[in-house]
Amino acid sequence: MLSLAALEPVAGLVAAAQRVPALRAALRRIAPVLRPTPPALTGDRDVPFQVRTIEVDALAARYPGAAGDVFTGIDARVGVGEWLVVDGPSGAGKSTLLSVLMGALRPASGEVRANGVPLPDLSPENWRDRVAWCPQDAHVFDSTLRGNLLLARRAGDAPTDAELRSTLERAGLARLVAELPGGLDSRVGPAGTALSGGERQRLAVARALLSRADVLLLDEPSAHLDAPTAEDMMTDIRRSSRDRITVLVSHRPADRRADDRIVGLQGPAGAVAAEAREPIIAG
Ligand SMILES: Nc1ncnc2c1ncn2[C@@H]1O[C@H](COP(=O)(O)OP(=O)(O)OP(=O)(O)O)[C@@H](O)[C@H]1O
Ligand SMILES: [Mg+2]
Repeated sequence: MLSLAALEPVAGLVAAAQRVPALRAALRRIAPVLRPTPPALTGDRDVPFQVRTIEVDALAARYPGAAGDVFTGIDARVGVGEWLVVDGPSGAGKSTLLSVLMGALRPASGEVRANGVPLPDLSPENWRDRVAWCPQDAHVFDSTLRGNLLLARRAGDAPTDAELRSTLERAGLARLVAELPGGLDSRVGPAGTALSGGERQRLAVARALLSRADVLLLDEPSAHLDAPTAEDMMTDIRRSSRDRITVLVSHRPADRRADDRIVGLQGPAGAVAAEAREPIIAG
């Protein structure tokens, strides 16, 4: 996956970007953690309305120069308010599937469609605005809690403090904010090192929730959390994503619900994936 640490030297720009809209727009373009960069998309079509369906057809993925496919044969369909849960052992290609969905990696074969339009036909700018990606090791900028959250939106569409607080609450960070003397203006340290791994991950989830994206791609958001905290956060994410499409990578059976769509990736290169309507492991 993309290395986000390279972005840290520009983190000083985050504070300035809050005052200068053009800077904020520029920063958003170079910050794939907020909106994915879709180099595999070269078209000029827009999805004019909300993304209502994502369909995956006989999809296979392969990295440039690699000898074999990471996975083959994925079929899936997910609509607004629904969740597609991606499971499988380490290295099976879960994060790679998200890369294909965000348009960062072109399918080796097969197709992904949004509202019936093949992904490569879409304009990268349009798709980037539609998708929020919360990566496995989410990058947090050396700024304040507020500064990190404000980057989720365009200038002119800045969330109010009340919105920031309610989003942080949904991501399970209300107590942290209440306890920090600086509140929303508390600094998070270089690469967010003043926060725990779980807090960084939850801040990234809050940023994704705050975005206006129609599609949420969440890569193991509960991995650093203890079971009760993970449970609370997932419940809150469910509540906040009723009008979006969510694709969740997670090993935790407790993160699934009976009506989720499941993609079970079965192992290393060349393995066949299967979609099941029922959870593969009873949750
Ligand atoms: N940028 C890349 N270039 C080449 N190969 C890659 C790249 N990213 C991942 N891979 C390879 O693709 C395979 C799938 O990796 P991926 O990160 O999708 O697995 P994963 O299921 O998300 O694993 P984990 O549970 O450990 O996060 C692995 O063999 C990995 O080495
Ligand atoms: Mg992964």
